[in-house]
Amino acid sequence: MQRFIINGGRRLRGELALQGSKNSSLPIMAASLLCCGECTLHSCPNLTDVYAASRILNCVGCKCTFSDNTAVINSVVIDKTSISEELMREMRSSIIFMGAMLGRAGECTVSVPGGCELGPRPIDMHISALRKMGIEIRESGGSIICKAPAGRAKGAKINLAFPSVGATENVILCAVTAEGETVINNAAREPEICDLCGFLRSCGADIAGEGESRVIIHGKHQLHSCEYTIMPDRIAGATYLSMAAAAKGELILTNACIPEMEPFLSVLEQTGCSIYTSDKKIYLRSGSRLSAIKDRIRTMPHPGFPTDAQAVLMAALAAADGTSVFEENIFDCRYRHTDALVKMGADIQVLGKVAVVKGREKLHGAKVEATDLRGGAAMVIAALCAEGTSEITKICHIDRGYENIEEAVRLLGGDIRRS
Ligand code: UD1
Repeated sequence: MQRFIINGGRRLRGELALQGSKNSSLPIMAASLLCCGECTLHSCPNLTDVYAASRILNCVGCKCTFSDNTAVINSVVIDKTSISEELMREMRSSIIFMGAMLGRAGECTVSVPGGCELGPRPIDMHISALRKMGIEIRESGGSIICKAPAGRAKGAKINLAFPSVGATENVILCAVTAEGETVINNAAREPEICDLCGFLRSCGADIAGEGESRVIIHGKHQLHSCEYTIMPDRIAGATYLSMAAAAKGELILTNACIPEMEPFLSVLEQTGCSIYTSDKKIYLRSGSRLSAIKDRIRTMPHPGFPTDAQAVLMAALAAADGTSVFEENIFDCRYRHTDALVKMGADIQVLGKVAVVKGREKLHGAKVEATDLRGGAAMVIAALCAEGTSEITKICHIDRGYENIEEAVRLLGGDIRRS
């Protein structure tokens, strides 16, 4: 089990190029199943979740190779439509392969995704939407067995009760090769949905309205392969900006997706650090202690403040001047990192969906355990601006979403090592 040893207190300074988006790569890799050809994906991040997705593709018969951030996925032959429980368990978002397998083969068997660090994360909306598209779905011994009786799903009008990212992606993946028109009302508007649709359109899919609440898809019999570049990772961007802000640093973030990061940037700016954007660059300078955020920080579906950036901003605000209040509206169990931050000297009170963060003058080093991906990143941020040495264990959570985070931190002058 690897861990990070971090000596805090150094001012971070430098330039970083943003990695490709994890949350785009996974559905786009699944979507490559629909192409019956060889797709080349550039800017695919080097992450354990991406390797898990390529293992799933290989297990159903694709040939997926990965080098220098380019994934080449050959999906000409598919010889299996079931995904083993072991592979499904490796990554909760593997549920996204359900829509893609149905779109490609008209059937699939997947296992019920296991428990997750963010609470139970049900898939009821995925199931009811796919049923509306004519898919017969039954559960047997922990497996979900799905079949389109006519071999192909049927377009339908889907009204999502909540703009779920995963459910929107599953419906899109199933609908692009379905018979007729599918309309998704209350669709998720996250930039990664737009990236998935951009990829599918490059493969010949007929999709309109992504990025809005209503997405309209006309099914095609077959898609073709393409070459595509994955969008930058706005959450990794939010993490490194929070890190530099907390460490009184100076950061130039290149390959940034500025409009997509606006909901985060507009909040971060209120801490008093200077932020300038131009072209695909974000420049941040944080000379003195951060100010607390006056308005409640409410996580909401895009274009609201992203839930994935809640923990990393909280770590930065733990040593800010004044009290900040978070309200987590997307996931029930998304404050599990707060115990570790408290161990490092933070003053955080959690009451249901609200967390009250009273900024302390200083944090101190401690031995903590990463609880989940973004919570683990929050601990790295807190450790970098704390006094003394911290040890973070269970960093496998962090490796799921950050491409070589210790290299990035070192490049900025931080003292971190993996052992
Ligand atoms: C995706 C992201 C994740 C991000 C989240 C919200 C990926 C790989 N993951 O997760 O990083 O935090 O969007 O922006 O892209 N829900 C149900 N029933 C369902 C589906 C969802 O109740 O059938 C609930 C979930 O439990 C959660 C909320 O809806 O409380 C949002 O979930 P969803 O938008 O689906 O998130 P994911 O796609 O899992």
